[in-house]
Amino acid sequence: MIPESFIQELLGRVDIVDVVERHVPLRKAGANYSACCPFHSEKTPSFTVSPAKQFYHCFGCGAHGSAIGFVMQYSGLGFVEAVEDLASHIGLAVPREHGVQRAAATARKAPLTELLARAARFYQEQLKASPKAIDYLKRRGLTGAIAARFGLGYAPDAWQGLEQVFTDYHDAALLECGLVIVNDQNRRYDRFRDRIMFPILDQKGNVIGFGGRVIGEGEPKYLNSPETPVFEKGRELYGLVQARKAIHQDDTVIIVEGYMDVVGLAQLGIENVVASLGTATTGVHVQKLLRQASRVIFCFDRDRAGDNAARRAMEASLEHLADGKRVEILQMPGNQDPDEFIREHGAEAFRRLLGSATQLSEFLVRQVRKSANLGTAEGRALLVQEAHPLLQKISAAAPVLRVQITQTIAGLARLSQAELEARCGLKPLARSWRPPPSAGTRHVAVSPLRTLLRHVVKRPVRAARLPLHLIDGDDPVGATLHAIAEALEHGELSIPSVGLLMEFFRGSPHEALIGEYAAPATLDNAEEDGEETEFDETLEQMRRRSEKEEFDRLNARLHLLDPAEKRRWVELLATRAARESAHRGDPA
Ligand code: UTP
Ligand code: MN
Repeated sequence: MIPESFIQELLGRVDIVDVVERHVPLRKAGANYSACCPFHSEKTPSFTVSPAKQFYHCFGCGAHGSAIGFVMQYSGLGFVEAVEDLASHIGLAVPREHGVQRAAATARKAPLTELLARAARFYQEQLKASPKAIDYLKRRGLTGAIAARFGLGYAPDAWQGLEQVFTDYHDAALLECGLVIVNDQNRRYDRFRDRIMFPILDQKGNVIGFGGRVIGEGEPKYLNSPETPVFEKGRELYGLVQARKAIHQDDTVIIVEGYMDVVGLAQLGIENVVASLGTATTGVHVQKLLRQASRVIFCFDRDRAGDNAARRAMEASLEHLADGKRVEILQMPGNQDPDEFIREHGAEAFRRLLGSATQLSEFLVRQVRKSANLGTAEGRALLVQEAHPLLQKISAAAPVLRVQITQTIAGLARLSQAELEARCGLKPLARSWRPPPSAGTRHVAVSPLRTLLRHVVKRPVRAARLPLHLIDGDDPVGATLHAIAEALEHGELSIPSVGLLMEFFRGSPHEALIGEYAAPATLDNAEEDGEETEFDETLEQMRRRSEKEEFDRLNARLHLLDPAEKRRWVELLATRAARESAHRGDPA
């Protein structure tokens, strides 16, 4: 237990503006600060932080609280962990009143999980007795073995079904663990009625809650246990216990949105899968998963909610990244969720799809450049502004990755890496780290277009980043690059994988060139170290060359330039000067 006096002291010392700003970029608005609410999806900011009141409030969704409340809600931490997190940021140690209270707290939890386990057994028994529920699961392609593995059950269609197993239906603990509900007239009834039951387990295998799906159509489709002393949604993951062995075997964990996705994938042999419980991904989730595997793949449905969820997952991940760990984001093609996809296309197709997931670094760059028109100085400034809070979030445990991301963004913003780091308040990295030698020195004989094609064939989504205006469409390699980028942009390559690319261009003039790079790309599954860097550097090299050519052209007729051309000449001159001085400052 943490003494109340310490909570007071802590809240007196932290500034909620700093705390929120660590996660959400704030804009000053009068005496307060505002932002788009991190707890619901909105376009105009209704989330307000008051430094005077040390309080946040969202006029849109009603979220509100203190600095501690914000950390709990945003990161999904428990009260004690949120306090510890805040205290560590200002260098305070959390005092503890040990002993009795703590033991009392665990003792209080035990009976709740026992009640929940008893209910789970009851629901499982009821499933065996319900042809309707069995039939539903069968129609969804599930076997008895999988139902047993996940402890699936059926809550009977009765108001007090649980009376059959609990001698005291009026026990307060039944209410506390969310199995029963009391209405205004003080009548008690079962929360879950006529639903397929998915028990939720904690890491030790205790039942801590349930998700209940309506059979067929109906609202709400899923009903979930409320948060209770044993069930905190932001910390728990559905299916973790069942997935653990496969996670360790593959050193990879896949995180999906729904209960049925976990169960449906397991049914077809993909077992390293967990689901978040209808909440946004939290830092705790990411931390838990990265502790168990070095590769985490988030799978999101392709809709607006899925896009926001992907962005949240990215933000939650940045703080927990480490070099050697990989976080990837897969946006499901079409309108299918993983369960629907695997049923229609099979496990192999799903595995291939996983291979096309986007690296977190790439996803980040794509996100920040989405709103910025990089052809203008204003757009590039906006890019830096968008990137700023994200770059700051990248964990200190991922220095190499951070360099690679800053390099890419600096390139896009036409700044040197040092300038971007200074601009975003990033501490420079240890001197011992040196960037890899540039592509130019390693691949003297290979044309930059061929280098680009090699990388694009390996990961076709890269085609979205090609500067097409700099790529000569009359050159055969250039023409192939144009063709791939266009197909991708027009949505003709729904699952941009090497295989699909080959199929798509079969019989076209591009087939031979793509084929040349396709075989090695298919075999070489591992992401080569520095591969992203090489791709980015090649792009950067092309941009520089084109800028140099443009500069030379302008320079040659300097006295004839019109005012716009003159401005461009000055801009190019300044870019060159900035680059040269950055280059001189480089100890390498
Ligand atoms: P989806 O609506 O995508 O459902 O919700 P699903 O997983 O595809 O389920 P099926 O295939 O129709 O059976 C994804 C997750 O969001 C939460 C649940 O955790 C669900 O698994 N959810 C959804 C709710 O909590 N309540 C709802 O009413 C709907
Ligand atoms: Mn589904």
